[in-house]
Amino acid sequence: MPPHSPHRRHWTLAPDLVFLNHGSFGACPARILELQHELRREMEASPVQFLYRRYDQRMQESRLALAGFLNANPQDLVPVTNSTTAVNAVARSWPLQPGDEILTTNLDYNACRNALIGAAGGAGARVVVAEIPFPVVSPEAVVAAVLDAITPRTRFAMIDHVTSGSALVLPAEEIVRELESRGIRVLVDGAHAPGMLPLDFAAFQPSWYCGNLHKWTCAPKGCAFLWAREDARQDLQPAVISHGNNSPRPGFTPFQDRFDWSGTYDPTPWLCFGETLRLLDGMLPGGWAAVRAHNFQLAREARALLCGEFGVHPPCPAEMLGSMATIPLPARFQHSDHHGPFAPEQLRLHDEFRIEVPFMRIGGLRCLRVSAHLHNRREEYQYLADALDRL
Ligand SMILES: Cc1ncc(COP(=O)(O)O)c(C=O)c1O
Repeated sequence: MPPHSPHRRHWTLAPDLVFLNHGSFGACPARILELQHELRREMEASPVQFLYRRYDQRMQESRLALAGFLNANPQDLVPVTNSTTAVNAVARSWPLQPGDEILTTNLDYNACRNALIGAAGGAGARVVVAEIPFPVVSPEAVVAAVLDAITPRTRFAMIDHVTSGSALVLPAEEIVRELESRGIRVLVDGAHAPGMLPLDFAAFQPSWYCGNLHKWTCAPKGCAFLWAREDARQDLQPAVISHGNNSPRPGFTPFQDRFDWSGTYDPTPWLCFGETLRLLDGMLPGGWAAVRAHNFQLAREARALLCGEFGVHPPCPAEMLGSMATIPLPARFQHSDHHGPFAPEQLRLHDEFRIEVPFMRIGGLRCLRVSAHLHNRREEYQYLADALDRL
């Protein structure tokens, strides 16, 4: 087994697990899980006080912490349990006419594509898929592929900030600028971005942006946000309609009234969020900027190491990397006709070597994706290369 990163002690990952898939599900630090446990005890000790009387004030504290982290106006932010829920809310709220087109890309996330297809189908609209070539040569090639797919019927687009399987940081700012200047509203699916990329909503203002806080910022599962520009939230309804439509609260916007409560649930992931931000911020002397830089640097090193060991070329320029890297598998693994969630090699790596790493097929190319967070260290990627060699 490779040695642990000195930061690993903050996490509750199994001691014998080499966890290289923070991209699918982030791991939450022990101290935050303890805080969540305390909050849950408080909730169960006095449910009405916790979920009703004190809820708004506590959620507001978390919202303010998030607003500071994103340099956003708190009025533009609402809680959701995950990015899938946020994409559903936006896709289903946008008024579509028969013949309208919704634009997405071939590298989008399946669940979110399904939300678009569901919304389009109900209105007689259709989903158009821009084909981003993978391997990709440059951010400009991505912009060109998206712009190529626009037609006079394109009304609405969903663009990933960081793609899922292919782990590309897309030039979201430029795409948003190009599309919105043509009157096409853009939802940025930033599921991976918070904690991975610096976000500044004073400068970057698509119509809508959603992000997960349970991935790279390491909040407990079920913590995400939706940001909406003021002119893009009039008709915006949550995926689940609750009291908010006719229950205005002093000091909150109608957008917040609609989204802040979607029926009884466990809000503790959100209530832990301010402390989650502070804890990670304190793990390195440079705070969050240093955490992002550490992860970015480790992902680059991991990619260089694995590309060298596999004898393959990197599938994108380094400027398109965040804290994950997708790497084509060596030639001898390319001929598998396996399709489905768990490749046999992925299962063997887990069961025989205790490595958690996802395999995927992008176009015709079989790849694996590694992630890098403070709990990882370089030796883990070498261990992966050696293990793959022994399969
Ligand atoms: C690009 C992208 N969008 C959306 C999601 C969905 O996130 P969640 O399951 O938290 O809704 C993911 C999950 O990995 C993703 O990668």
